Amino acid sequence: MLSPFGRDLVAGLSATPRGVSPKYFYDAEGSRLFDRICDLPEYYPTRTEQSVLERHVGEMAALAGRGAEIVEFGAGSLRKARLLLRAFDAPARYVPIDISGEHLRDAAALLRGEFAGLEVRPVVADYSQAFEPPPPAGPGRRIGFFPGSTIGNFTPDEALVFLRRAAGLLRGGALLLGADLVKDPAVLHAAYNDAQGVTAAFNLNLLARANRELGADFQLARFAHSAFYNAPLRRIEMHLVSRVRQEVNVGGERFLFEEGESLHTENSYKFTVAGLRELAQRAGFRPGPVWTDPARLFSVHWLHAPEGGNA
Ligand code: AVI
Repeated sequence: MLSPFGRDLVAGLSATPRGVSPKYFYDAEGSRLFDRICDLPEYYPTRTEQSVLERHVGEMAALAGRGAEIVEFGAGSLRKARLLLRAFDAPARYVPIDISGEHLRDAAALLRGEFAGLEVRPVVADYSQAFEPPPPAGPGRRIGFFPGSTIGNFTPDEALVFLRRAAGLLRGGALLLGADLVKDPAVLHAAYNDAQGVTAAFNLNLLARANRELGADFQLARFAHSAFYNAPLRRIEMHLVSRVRQEVNVGGERFLFEEGESLHTENSYKFTVAGLRELAQRAGFRPGPVWTDPARLFSVHWLHAPEGGNA
């Protein structure tokens, strides 16, 4: 019996063109590599978003009001959640939602130790799918937090579905959303082709994970990391490109790779401020303030979720 990863990888290798969801990057090793990416000099999104949050967190706290509940989609960014929890007026509860129970438990334990009296209620769920949130913690607003431009790893259709669900879940509150901006392709190219090769290792770890978990026989040296900006589609594409003609075995099936054939592993969409606001509006939000850094590399959006559904 194959795991969901095994099933999806076999399906993705059987498709034309070949591709697999970027959600499978994040096993323990992939999460470690992603943390290293966030500290790379070329990877501006993490530190730029952090600086925008630091500069404007007072305004965000005022919009959230007293006793707000913070619902974070993913639990990979404790540093950013901490910033909100410190600045908000008596936050009622913190609800991190993540597919990895282990990650959540660690995050929750850390925060409980730091914020005496804060209720931390982790929810193990795939937030890209429908899930049941706990009932509201109290009379305060429910504020969703989706930082890091992870929204850019969804297809446009998936992003709309996610935002529609979030608007329903956060009714009467708001979503605080981080979105990476369209910019000079050279800056984007460098961010996904770092000099130390950490992004390449992150990409190749998908094959290493298949070897570890599925008994596949990928030879990592026979695949090259490839990342480039697709300007018409406003997205970075990551691929693993076969350096030679070769056969691989995954889940009991054999797959032939021609020299130069690729497995598409990730899209990372970039947004304009206006485009993101329009998408949010289509999903039922009423766009509020937007904050960016002086170089306009990254944007953070306050999106009101109206009480009665569509804005
Ligand atoms: C998590 N996500 C927003 C990152 C991105 O930039 O799309 C993942 C990543 N892929 C390569 N580097 C970072």
